[in-house]
Amino acid sequence: MSQAHGRGRFITLEGGEGTGKSTQAARLVAALAQRGVDAIATREPGGSPRAEEIRAVILSGSAERLAPVAEALLFAAARADHVEKTIRPALERGTWVVCDRFADSTRAYQGALGGLDDDTLGALERIAVGDARPDLTLVLDLPAAVGLARASRRRGTGEVDRFEQESLAFHERLRQAFLHIAHRDPQRCAVVDASLDPDAVTASLMCVVDARLVAPHKARERAS
Ligand code: TYD
Repeated sequence: MSQAHGRGRFITLEGGEGTGKSTQAARLVAALAQRGVDAIATREPGGSPRAEEIRAVILSGSAERLAPVAEALLFAAARADHVEKTIRPALERGTWVVCDRFADSTRAYQGALGGLDDDTLGALERIAVGDARPDLTLVLDLPAAVGLARASRRRGTGEVDRFEQESLAFHERLRQAFLHIAHRDPQRCAVVDASLDPDAVTASLMCVVDARLVAPHKARERAS
């Protein structure tokens, strides 16, 4: 992603179930607005009209018998449309984008847990993401049991999507997968403790966003 003056910044939120990503995405957009930064919240799978249709297919369970590579292709198809229709146009007009899940979710779910190899994942990213890579990825970290308890409270007695039916051990492996991704790419990623109350989590996230993106952005604005 070009860091040229005028281009928006791309922030992704990643983590397991119940880590509060969607709540925090909305809060980050509001906090950025307070700093005079125009930003939108979006999500994956989905984030554009056609990608939302693919989301419905993926989460309905009709994709359940797909091999991991076929499932990853569906996520990648949704991502390609989301990037072209929502993310890239926003960044090009100077709007910042805060996305609830992105390519690291494919790396964690279909890669670390589904067994897809790095070459395949890399190829999918080159096609679906291209140069629209995140400037900053915030990994919301939470013990798996806490996240699952939160997710089931949020659902009440409602439906459990097929990804949430997996076992606690699965979710703990997922947590480790996201931590591993962050560890491998510390320039782009930061891990934030998501077990705190929502205000404290937002404050931690904004500390990272301010230090890594907002302050350099303002400095560039002043210099131009
Ligand atoms: P969602 O309801 O967005 O999950 P959450 O509330 O945890 O954010 O459902 C998305 C599910 O799809 C989630 O379980 C993670 C999974 N997923 C993948 O397996 N691969 C991907 O590339 C993405 C974006 C999501």
